[in-house]
Amino acid sequence: MGAVIAPSILSADFARLGADIKDAEAGGAALIHVDVMDGHFVPNLTIGPAVVRAVRRVTQLPVDCHLMIEEPDRYVAAFAEAGADMISIHVEVARHLERTVAAIKDAGAKAGVVLNPATPLETLSEILPVADFVLLMSVNPGFGGQTLIRSVLDKARRLRAWIDRLGIATRIEIDGGVTFENLDEVAASGVDIVVAGSAIFGSGDARGATQALVRKLAAIAEQGRRV
Ligand code: DX5
Ligand code: ZN
Repeated sequence: MGAVIAPSILSADFARLGADIKDAEAGGAALIHVDVMDGHFVPNLTIGPAVVRAVRRVTQLPVDCHLMIEEPDRYVAAFAEAGADMISIHVEVARHLERTVAAIKDAGAKAGVVLNPATPLETLSEILPVADFVLLMSVNPGFGGQTLIRSVLDKARRLRAWIDRLGIATRIEIDGGVTFENLDEVAASGVDIVVAGSAIFGSGDARGATQALVRKLAAIAEQGRRV
């Protein structure tokens, strides 16, 4: 199966968030990516559980909460209760990573672990079999609209090989700097979920931009099947 598109609402128009989400959904989005920032772990402030609850009401798609926050243990239950289907936490802040991953699962959500671009894959060695997904940051977290850090594509390739070698079902998500133009390279790295923020909501046509990305991924998957 080919990769799917996860629009990041960070670049949406928050005054018409419901309509923007509907547009992305109509374009073929597979899930809705929500960037939660605390002004400590990253130099920006964004969304809390109240907005996640509102997002939950306007879409049937899974809601994927990317927590860029310190002390994630304090908030996991609140995001799950607000309707998050997937919750990911950064290994750079989780002091008791296994405990936090278990808490996410206990709260009924899929648990993801996130690596910043400079954080080595090796930090996953003990948690990989337990995590439902790994989110590889392809920009330094904090803002939408940054440029893809290409070395992360090699990291994704190595993670793909590692997961395949273990024969586990852990999914790989990539986040940051994805555009229509670089989607080929991104897909070729073997990721399962591709986050796109400004490429979708910065385009002025969220439905059309999502559809273009989804179609391109489908064409890439089709080509892959032929060779
Ligand atoms: C960055 C966020 C990303 C961001 C992606 O800290 O985690 O999800 O919204 O935005 P683009 O696709 O514009 O890089
Ligand atoms: Zn994100």
